[in-house]
Amino acid sequence: MKLFDNHKKLFSTATLFFVGLTILVAIMPAIRNQDNNQPLPGAQELSPEAVKGKALFVANGCVACHTQQVRNVDMDKMWGSRPSLAADYADIHRIDVWRNTATLMGTERTGPDLTDIGNRQPSKDWNLVHLYNPRIVVKESIMPAYPWLFAIKKEPSKSDIVVNVPAQYLNGQEGKVVATKEAMYLIAYLQSLKQTKLPDGTTAPAFLYKREEKKVTGASGAEPDGKAIFTANCQSCHQANGEGLPGAFPPLKGSPVVLGDDLEKYVDIIMNGYDARAEFGVMPPVGTNMQFTEHEVAALINYERTSWGNNGKKVTPEEVKKIIDFVKLKAAK
Ligand code: HEC
Ligand code: HEC
Repeated sequence: MKLFDNHKKLFSTATLFFVGLTILVAIMPAIRNQDNNQPLPGAQELSPEAVKGKALFVANGCVACHTQQVRNVDMDKMWGSRPSLAADYADIHRIDVWRNTATLMGTERTGPDLTDIGNRQPSKDWNLVHLYNPRIVVKESIMPAYPWLFAIKKEPSKSDIVVNVPAQYLNGQEGKVVATKEAMYLIAYLQSLKQTKLPDGTTAPAFLYKREEKKVTGASGAEPDGKAIFTANCQSCHQANGEGLPGAFPPLKGSPVVLGDDLEKYVDIIMNGYDARAEFGVMPPVGTNMQFTEHEVAALINYERTSWGNNGKKVTPEEVKKIIDFVKLKAAK
């Protein structure tokens, strides 16, 4: 054939096909996609600090272990209130000649999904300690430590952000651990990661492949497991031995709140969080975030009142229900 003998014709034909197909299968769908998917109306833009933090998130390899995508399968329900949508990733623009905004959906979930980590773990103190060395707060953690995001200072100044690192994690170095600008940027980024609410009237796609719901109504006699609830929601700060972390999280072992008579205060702390003392960090509204039922709160209280040598009075879900309704009203005011 003539075409095969003329290299100019052959090459131009191949190039034409290549360009044509690229436009058809790559460029046109991409443009259509961008037109069809706008960021949700409630989506927040990243602050300048969070943008720097995002770059550090990439640079430190966090994306190798942490996804940012809630799949539409039931087992992903714990990572967000709805499955992620294309619109969640639609705010893509050129940041310079060579690069677009990174979406950081990730492919490996060695650690938890971070789509909604800003809501799930809003505590700055926890995040700082955890970044310095995850083992301080989560004993079994396999996440690497990031000590280069911190500096050790003999005499920190007033403006320094001091991190409460227990002495045995300092490897014999003397002084206080203070957070660098980079650590604060990274945390600003983590705290900005919140799943955007859908506009009113929009239904989210369903979670598929539902697992059988465990009966936790108490009517059948099966109350939820207080220890499991503690492990999943409280242990990362108050620790498995209930002793907390000096200077950051108070002990629940021997705690006057846990053992005292003021059940209203106790339930209020669980549902709405707590920030009463300067020596400790801030406790987020864990119960409200996790939508605890009175059965779960009662199981939790009973577990804490009977563990680590604590010996407090048991409560019933009925008692707790009244107080939850009351503290909800109080928090709404
Ligand atoms: C080798 C894998 C790995 C890498 C790399 C990694 N992580 Fe993790 N991460 C984990 C694991 C495993 C956990 C769960 C145990 C824990 O809390 O420490 C975790 C937990 C977390 C949590 C708490 C999540 C929750 O739901 O409580 C945050 C926040 C976090 N990582 C942030 C980061 C940041 C920021 C980086 C990068 C500076 C990073 N991780 C790098 C594995 C990793
Ligand atoms: C992100 C870390 C964090 C998590 C998670 C957390 N707490 Fe707390 N908690 C704190 C901090 C910090 C304080 C002290 C706040 C203050 O006094 O300023 C506190 C205080 C308390 C107190 C009062 C103790 C006392 O003696 O004053 C109780 C009770 C308590 N938490 C129970 C719980 C329970 C139950 C859970 C799980 C549902 C939980 N916490 C989860 C950080 C946390």
